[in-house]
Amino acid sequence: MANLAELKGLKVYFYDQRDKRFIRAVEDMEFEVEEGSIMGLVGESGCGKTITARSLMGLIDSYPGLIGGKFYFRPRPEDTLELVRNIRRGVSREKTHSRDVQYGSGSQKKPYKKDGMFDLFYGIEEFVTFKKKPFTIIKDTEKWLRRMDRIMENIRGKNIAIVFQNPGLSLNPYIPVGLQFEKTLRRFNPGLKREEIRSRMLELFNSVKLYPGQKIIGMYPPSLSVGMAQRVVIAIAISSSPKLLIADEPTTGLDTSNRIRIIDLLLSLVNEKALTMIFISHNIGLVGSVADSITVMYAGYAVERGSNSVVIMSKKGPNHPYTEALLEVMPEESEIMAGRRLKVIEGNVPGNKIEIKGCPFMPRCRYARGKLAKLCENEKPELYEVEPEHFIRCFLFRE
Ligand SMILES: Nc1ncnc2c1ncn2[C@@H]1O[C@H](COP(=O)(O)OP(=O)(O)O)[C@@H](O)[C@H]1O
Ligand code: SF4
Ligand SMILES: [Mg+2]
Repeated sequence: MANLAELKGLKVYFYDQRDKRFIRAVEDMEFEVEEGSIMGLVGESGCGKTITARSLMGLIDSYPGLIGGKFYFRPRPEDTLELVRNIRRGVSREKTHSRDVQYGSGSQKKPYKKDGMFDLFYGIEEFVTFKKKPFTIIKDTEKWLRRMDRIMENIRGKNIAIVFQNPGLSLNPYIPVGLQFEKTLRRFNPGLKREEIRSRMLELFNSVKLYPGQKIIGMYPPSLSVGMAQRVVIAIAISSSPKLLIADEPTTGLDTSNRIRIIDLLLSLVNEKALTMIFISHNIGLVGSVADSITVMYAGYAVERGSNSVVIMSKKGPNHPYTEALLEVMPEESEIMAGRRLKVIEGNVPGNKIEIKGCPFMPRCRYARGKLAKLCENEKPELYEVEPEHFIRCFLFRE
């Protein structure tokens, strides 16, 4: 199957007004997601998973000091024309006709296109310019946000939907569930009659196994259990039949039985509705049990990516030293149930200064010794292809 989405070189920095400095949230992040598959995104808390997910939909809640990279996405055929129009609008003519940009073959006239996908971040650098020496950022944030909103018009919610970690935060506690649901349904189907909306809601509650739908429609979010609220959020997310569903830690805060049920639900929706999913979790065991391919993130970087069979399931490796450490500290379900203290990876995560000199994992890496340590300390490794379609960002795997 062809890829539905490809992310390349994503970087997101925030500007800290108080300390007058930039904070690195994401740096050189990349992934590929094959259409119809589940891509698992894993890494410890704070490594940039949520910011990556939010960036894909132009949903950064605080103005970034900088956002850059390319995000290629294949929209639904009926939304393609409109998307291309929105991508081209507002970007200078020279850029759209630039012949010196290297992209997929035959697409020089359309540098925002690659293998039938379109770069949703195209033109970002027109509004946000990054100069390294001396470090300056020229930005026109308002224009950038307006541009992102325009490009995302037919994408957000309709082509890409997201389910967040805390369903309580996604629902307005003062508005009945049915009314909130109706708003989303009307946004993409303005012509629907009241009765049609109602039966569509009941049908969707059925798909997420939430009963009795009639009653749920009139309930206020605080009277739902966390598991029920997450099902409502999932029902709303899939209501416009998106191509890509991003589930960001969808089971955090749920007890074991609810966690298993929500995972089963997501897996059955992927099958029944031919969805593609990005499943995000800090738990490598959980990601390994659901995903077809894996991207491991550390300190804002993609440090390893490949199929599940080579990254997690193969016990023999090769793996990035960070993935190896994650697998070593992975708790058994029985340990979690018994409330035992969980193992953690030793050492400290690098600070969020924008410049890291060497490998971001260096302070915690057991392999960085002797001659290699010098290299790790001073140079940044790239993602090296260690076997077909398996990439690791570590000098141990450089030819
Ligand atoms: N609005 C913001 N302003 C400044 N820094 C932020 C903001 N949101 C997130 N960050 C920082 O970005 C980094 C990545 O955060 P996040 O994507 O939420 O991590 P994860 O989802 O992997 O736990 C963290 O260091 C976090 O403190
Ligand atoms: S590049 Fe060096 S420090 Fe980084 S993970 Fe590899 S061995 Fe460890
Ligand atoms: Mg998160």
